[in-house]
Amino acid sequence: MAKEALKIVDQRTDMEYEVPVHKGTIRARDLRQIKSGPDDFGLMTYDPSFMNTASCRSAITFADGERGILRYRGYPIEQLAEKCTFLEVAYLIVHGELPNEQQLKSWVNEITFHSMLHETTKKFLEGFRYDAHPMGMFISTVAALSTVHPEARDVHDPANRLRQIHRLIGKVPTIAAYTYRHSRGMPYVYPDSDLGYCENFMNMLWRLAEPKYHANPALSRALDILFILHADHEQNCSTNVMRAVGSSQTDPYLCVAAAAAALSGPLHGGANEEVVKLLDEIGSKDRVPAYIEQVKAGHGKLMGFGHRVYKHYDPRARIIRWAAEQVFATTGKNPKLEIALELERIALEDEYFIKRKLYPNVEFYSGIIYQALGFKPDMFTVLFAIPRTVGWLAQWKEMLEDPEQKTARPRQIYTGHAQRDVVPMEQRAGTTLAAER
Ligand code: ACO
Repeated sequence: MAKEALKIVDQRTDMEYEVPVHKGTIRARDLRQIKSGPDDFGLMTYDPSFMNTASCRSAITFADGERGILRYRGYPIEQLAEKCTFLEVAYLIVHGELPNEQQLKSWVNEITFHSMLHETTKKFLEGFRYDAHPMGMFISTVAALSTVHPEARDVHDPANRLRQIHRLIGKVPTIAAYTYRHSRGMPYVYPDSDLGYCENFMNMLWRLAEPKYHANPALSRALDILFILHADHEQNCSTNVMRAVGSSQTDPYLCVAAAAAALSGPLHGGANEEVVKLLDEIGSKDRVPAYIEQVKAGHGKLMGFGHRVYKHYDPRARIIRWAAEQVFATTGKNPKLEIALELERIALEDEYFIKRKLYPNVEFYSGIIYQALGFKPDMFTVLFAIPRTVGWLAQWKEMLEDPEQKTARPRQIYTGHAQRDVVPMEQRAGTTLAAER
């Protein structure tokens, strides 16, 4: 069998090196021995945006973008969406195995027990303007929990870590629902521990004067499935932030707030909000071809299309399309679905999209469902952040338990000036900053 190693010849020095290959990867540190001379720092890799760099070993999520496969802990996403509840999947992602009946019961109890917010946190929310973006409120309120639970700073105690994991998974729907109620000037609804995770979330969102809220089972199951699909997606932008911030041993509330901030960007979790805006802008099915031409001419992107990993149909988008049908059977069709289907049909036949392997991603249809469920677009990313909290926490726990991980700190290639001397102010006249030129 061929040796699992890479032979490198440095033509600068004619030196030869052998670098071990493990699972199709070389260690960047192994390149440091390659030097052009005794004063040389050693060879580095340059990989802006981590296009070809593994930052960790992880046993949580497997995504094969070429074949359109997504598995959590080895289980195909399709089976999990069909056969499990979101909290079962959350247990799987955090602990590595599906729970038995007893384990699930105590997991659900722990999470339900932690779904209340401290009264001061409610008051904190009151400080936001009536029109504050829910994602801004969500991020800030999660960060504020760090002050309510200061013991979370002890990230090395596994029992303490698990308590914070229960708390965060329990509290994020409550925070999300309160941001929604705040923006509508409605009183907050306390969690109801008789209800399931999604039913309770819907209760906190939409309960009015009725003594007990009863969610439509088809809609709460659809939301549960959406949560399963969004629970983790290996080393995406926000997960990378979670790990990077966590690597300096920051407490998990601040880490989740930072990860949620990364998620809020329009190229990541904010894309579903953009998709709905785009469908509104297109307005009708017959205007789809003109819109596609506009994108091809370089005027904007087709939001909800394309993915760094999936160069094939995103497996989550397929399940979401199915979930959309279930929701629409109850709520009536969202007229935007027709435009979205037409966009997908035309884009998938178009050379521009085929050549670049651009397929609908998880966000293409999720916004349409959220809207049918009664959410305004500004809530969509918050709805993504609730389930993704599970993935962030599992990745954070894995990072802290990994003896190879240290504070995340990339290198750079310095492109600035060499050393120069400070010129007194009176001699600086006429200098213009690059930004002013
Ligand atoms: N519409 C039109 N063209 C696109 C799109 C799109 N949505 N996405 C990529 N392209 C084009 C690029 O312009 C580029 O074309 P070029 O080679 O002619 O320059 C080519 O496809 C490659 O694109 P990159 O930006 O290099 O691909 P990358 O892997 O870096 O980007 C990303 C992935 C950010 C998701 C991108 O496809 C995008 O911006 N999509 C729209 C936003 C979106 O839907 N984000 C949600 C992703 S899912 C999630 O985060 C949960």
